[in-house]
Amino acid sequence: MYQPVLLANIEKDNSHTLAVYEAGGGYRTLRRVLKGMSPADVAAAVQSSNLRGRGGAGFPTGLKWSFLPKDRPGPIYLCVNADESEPGTFCNRVLMELDPHQVIEGTILSGYATRASTAYIYLRYEYPLSLRRLQQAIDECYRAGLLGKHVLGSEYSLDVYIHRGAAAYVCGEETGLIESLEGKRAWPRIKPPFPAVEGLFRKPTVVNNVETLACVVHILDRGVDWFRSIGTPPDPHDPRDPGSFGPKLYCLSGHVSRPGCYEGPLGLTCRDVIEEFGGGVWKGRKAKAVVPGGLSTGLLTAGELDTRLDFTGPVQAGCLGLGTAGVIVLDETYSMIDFLHNSCRFFAHESCGQCTPCREGTQWALEMVERIKAGRGRLRDLDLLLEIADTIGIIPGTTICGLADGAAWPIKNAIRKFRDEFEDYIRRTNPAGYGVTEPVPAMGEVVSRQYSVDSSVHI
Ligand SMILES: Cc1cc2nc3c(=O)[nH]c(=O)nc-3n(C[C@H](O)[C@H](O)[C@H](O)COP(=O)(O)O)c2cc1C
Ligand code: SF4
Repeated sequence: MYQPVLLANIEKDNSHTLAVYEAGGGYRTLRRVLKGMSPADVAAAVQSSNLRGRGGAGFPTGLKWSFLPKDRPGPIYLCVNADESEPGTFCNRVLMELDPHQVIEGTILSGYATRASTAYIYLRYEYPLSLRRLQQAIDECYRAGLLGKHVLGSEYSLDVYIHRGAAAYVCGEETGLIESLEGKRAWPRIKPPFPAVEGLFRKPTVVNNVETLACVVHILDRGVDWFRSIGTPPDPHDPRDPGSFGPKLYCLSGHVSRPGCYEGPLGLTCRDVIEEFGGGVWKGRKAKAVVPGGLSTGLLTAGELDTRLDFTGPVQAGCLGLGTAGVIVLDETYSMIDFLHNSCRFFAHESCGQCTPCREGTQWALEMVERIKAGRGRLRDLDLLLEIADTIGIIPGTTICGLADGAAWPIKNAIRKFRDEFEDYIRRTNPAGYGVTEPVPAMGEVVSRQYSVDSSVHI
């Protein structure tokens, strides 16, 4: 019975144009807010809605905005995180390509609430249609007085620029994004200071995801009570749980009959998303495992498909979190060794290299998985992989940013939840336990990295 809100416009012809957006009620909220609400009123509404960021971490948006210093002279910046680099995630792209004005209305409203004078849309490099559509929408807005000096004749002024990203996963991490926007290599910064205090050009900065900003439009249009009537309420046994409210875009990919971007309330079960939206696992097969929220969130088993996709469900099922709600289905024929190999390749390639545990840990993990895959694995490699996974990351406190956590969860979940398959594979492919006590000849990609072979022996 759920009526789409975020995707309400996308089926219309020319949904990306100002005329179609306004005909459907677009910018109505902005007009009303600029006439009748102060920036503090808008920020208070967003805070009471308990909107949580859709970019991955689920941090409460209103709370983040409240960290901006109140009395600091100089500009405040708003960075729209449109880097969308998490594997399995493409909902920002759908919004930017098919309803860019919704994104811009959310940007203007959020800029007003945070008193930002400039907004930068940091756009994933590989999204050329988003670039064209967003730029066209921004140009239309300037012509219509919706951007620039005195937005719609009000006291508020806002300029919006698009900045094409540098095409790396870590560019989506908020301080990597800021460094990249400043023209530098996207190396995440040590925090504190957090961007709200010292961000872009060392000025107070808010970084929010595209979908988060789109939600702001509807909170102000339909009201806080409406927003809080959708989703999962706070857990009464956990005083720190702000609940999981509002509409959510679920990206569905992998071995599913109808992959795509779908909208529902936060807290649908993973099974519902696959069955109702996706038409079930493809080719009449069963699911073996499902990535619940983008690759870095880990894996659910077939027995965990009734997990609610809200901010607590995946955590209770032993995953990192909801992430971006990028659901990737792996069918019963898919090898978990291949899954782990792909995952480790991605994170080792994307580690920016600043922190030793991340740089070395992701590479060691990859080399061990390559060796297992090549038929030279040892049973105890599985525990070594788990040891690496349990010790790298911002949550154990050994790295600057969360990329290493993201690298660790697929390893932890694949081995802990599918250990039998790994053990079986190692026993079948390396029955003599070759390599347990003697150096393993390098092969394939490993040839050029002889040290990795040695390291596996010394361990
Ligand atoms: C390695 C890494 C990559 C990230 N990539 C993205 C991304 O592509 N888009 C995004 O919105 N957030 C990404 N994030 C999360 C951002 O750091 C930040 O939390 C988010 O943009 C805040 O917006 P929100 O509060 O609206 O979710 C990433 C985080 C990490 C650690
Ligand atoms: S955790 Fe990894 S990606 Fe993040 S700053 Fe450190 S080395 Fe770079």
